[in-house]
Amino acid sequence: MLDSAVNFIKGKIDGFKPEIGIILGSGLGDLADEFCKVAIPYSDIPGFEASTVSGHKGRLVFAEINGKNVVMMQGRFHFYEGHSIQKVVFPVKVMKKLGVETLIVTNAAGGVNPAFNPSDLMIITDHINYMGVNPLIGANDDSMGDRFPDMSEVYTLEYIELVKKIASKLGIDLQEGVYMALTGPSYETPAEVRMARVIGADAVGMSTVPEAVTASWAGMKVIGLSCICNSAAGVSTVGLSHSDVIHAANVAKDRFKTLVKDVIKEI
Ligand code: HPA
Repeated sequence: MLDSAVNFIKGKIDGFKPEIGIILGSGLGDLADEFCKVAIPYSDIPGFEASTVSGHKGRLVFAEINGKNVVMMQGRFHFYEGHSIQKVVFPVKVMKKLGVETLIVTNAAGGVNPAFNPSDLMIITDHINYMGVNPLIGANDDSMGDRFPDMSEVYTLEYIELVKKIASKLGIDLQEGVYMALTGPSYETPAEVRMARVIGADAVGMSTVPEAVTASWAGMKVIGLSCICNSAAGVSTVGLSHSDVIHAANVAKDRFKTLVKDVIKEI
């Protein structure tokens, strides 16, 4: 199935070789509208599923941004949509086979660290997989990665430093911290958020970890960026809604795009 997807895509992109992959999270998808050379709907690609979340478009977009060849997922597959975890990470394997060396994974997240405010951007320094499932379960493809891959540095240290430097040059405030993934789709309870804080999380969300684990396993460099869209349950007294999350992502969107475009230029 992987080869069918890769061959299908190659047939549509006329020799284009992406070196950077970007997974665009909720409300952050416009980078793909701004720069789009070829767009392939997920529903056309063998092995891809249709994305079911509003605010997620569901296409693979190829573009040149700041002199680099990029492939973007405009919309991702979430475990909570009912896809198997292997389907969630399938596009990352496809990107690897297309030649992608660096994956930028983005998401909307809830702030667990009380110092975070809605619309803050956070560079992910590490993660906690609290989804109860690992995307590498199953037969291992030894040609892509090890059976027991080291996860000591999923998020490439050199690039964390680079992103921080670029943000500071642009005058963009950047938080940093640990992202904890839960399955969703329900948001956390206040007790779960207190637990998340105790075990070392700064933000909580429902994505990113499966893709980052898979990319790291496959030898890709990884950059993780969260848009903190709300204070997680119990951190503030305000209740949570998906529309508030999308609104906060919209407020952060231009800052996020400016940062990502400059990061693309420098890596
Ligand atoms: N929790 C989990 N996922 C999220 C949140 C949250 O508070 N906000 C945006 N995505």
